[in-house]
Amino acid sequence: LTPKDFVGKQVLVSAGPTLEPIDPVRYVSNHSSGKMGYAVARAAEMRGASVTLVTGSVSLDPPVGVETICVQTCQDMADTMLSKMAHADIIIQVAAVADFRPDHRETLKIKKTSDQDRMTLTLVQNPDILRTMGERKRPGQFLVGFAAETHDLAANAVKKIKKKNLDMIAANLVGGKDAGFQTDTNKMTLFFKDGSKTDIPLMDKQAVAHVLLDNLLTRLDPRG
Ligand code: C5P
Repeated sequence: LTPKDFVGKQVLVSAGPTLEPIDPVRYVSNHSSGKMGYAVARAAEMRGASVTLVTGSVSLDPPVGVETICVQTCQDMADTMLSKMAHADIIIQVAAVADFRPDHRETLKIKKTSDQDRMTLTLVQNPDILRTMGERKRPGQFLVGFAAETHDLAANAVKKIKKKNLDMIAANLVGGKDAGFQTDTNKMTLFFKDGSKTDIPLMDKQAVAHVLLDNLLTRLDPRG
């Protein structure tokens, strides 16, 4: 039986990739499937939370009982997350946000010419949504980031807690076959702002989501 230990809590979750248009038919994006973020939203809803899910373009069904808002670009996701965050007790930024976007979006499809063997795309940096939420966080709000790393997992995760003013970061190594993008399973380490950490061994993403929520619940500020 699922415990209803999130009753009365407002949870805001993001999931999936952002998609940054180049022209009307092309974009820059990444391999995020949305599975981990959707699992977190579903788990929180099952445990009694009132959940809003802000999702990039993925091929998953919207979770039952969750307010789901579809966005495309980092800028869309930033606008939505920042307008929703004031009402949230817990914010979990799982989305794989594109760090860069094309510096402008062509209104017409880009055509190749026969004498062209190279093409340069100029990218500009996207706003860091999580960092902005960290700056705006009010006392009692609990902010969680995710970090997918190919190396130096612990050092990078700990740095991001400070830099983005997080309460917890869920870090996982990507590039393996069992964990990370596209897979149905994941393993990760949770790092907390007090310096402690917890390993979550390889399991189904839905089970990982529940363990993540178990850990988060024990650290919530009673003012929240
Ligand atoms: O710094 P890095 O991109 O590794 O941090 C990952 C965390 O920051 C994730 O929670 C991701 O959703 C968030 N992020 C963001 N906006 C960006 C880039 C990353 O919110 N532009």
